[in-house]
Amino acid sequence: MNITASTALVTGANRGLGARFVAELLTGGVTKVYAAARDPKSVDPAIAADPRVRTLALDITDQASVDAAVSVASDVNLLINNAGVLGFGSALEGDLDLFGRDMHTNYLGTVRVTRAFVPVLASNGPAVIANVLTLIALAPVGPMAGYSASKAAAHSFTQALRAEVRDRGIEVVGAYPGGIDTDMLAGVEADKAAPEEVARRIVAGIAAGDTVIWPDDASAGAGKVYLGDPLQLERLLAG
Ligand SMILES: NC(=O)c1ccc[n+]([C@@H]2O[C@H](COP(=O)([O-])OP(=O)(O)OC[C@H]3O[C@@H](n4cnc5c(N)ncnc54)[C@H](OP(=O)(O)O)[C@@H]3O)[C@@H](O)[C@H]2O)c1
Repeated sequence: MNITASTALVTGANRGLGARFVAELLTGGVTKVYAAARDPKSVDPAIAADPRVRTLALDITDQASVDAAVSVASDVNLLINNAGVLGFGSALEGDLDLFGRDMHTNYLGTVRVTRAFVPVLASNGPAVIANVLTLIALAPVGPMAGYSASKAAAHSFTQALRAEVRDRGIEVVGAYPGGIDTDMLAGVEADKAAPEEVARRIVAGIAAGDTVIWPDDASAGAGKVYLGDPLQLERLLAG
């Protein structure tokens, strides 16, 4: 996709990876970008000051909020489904309310936003939907069992969607990062990639027409394992 000719919308654009997506798209010469956030006033003022940026209120779990966003952002041809939450907890002991919150946000929120924007994307095509998933959508880590399941559901949705919208001029991209150094993993001891680097590699993958993106060195290595032997990745992450 030609980023310079694109009008993008990034969900969860006020912090973390989402803020870096907006910055990276601006660097790449995007025509316009909607920086969507639950609280649009929380978008970095330095980013919001760029004349190509429109801040937009969007809670991906709220249908009325999504409908209002679509009615404003009717010129979008690149949707980046980035917003997400992570509740910690194991398969047997994790809090079911947190499991539910992750599912409502990471899975159903992504479905809700995507369904609402497909008519817009189809009319502005060629278009791209890029879903920010995670390596652990493909094989879970125990203490993030509910989160992993919600992202596995979003991964499956990504695959089903890809086939359903291809003939409407919409390509569907899945990005599968490893750990990223944002608020989401604050306090967790792990290898973490810089969010700027992850955003840069995902935007580069979108520009190159990639369908699957491994946007950091850890996920690129683990991705190779997964593609060769999914059970080996499961054993590695469980270990
Ligand atoms: N960090 C990692 O290690 C990692 C690894 C792989 C994949 N990911 C994925 O990368 C994406 C970005 O995560 P991050 O690391 O940047 O996390 P983050 O720093 O915690 O930021 C999460 C973003 O999602 C937004 N959000 C949460 N619920 C929302 C809702 N209902 N409606 C709209 N926005 C909502 C947050 O907005 P508020 O400020 O309003 O809360 C925030 O902008 C997520 O999909 C995450 O699952 C992260």
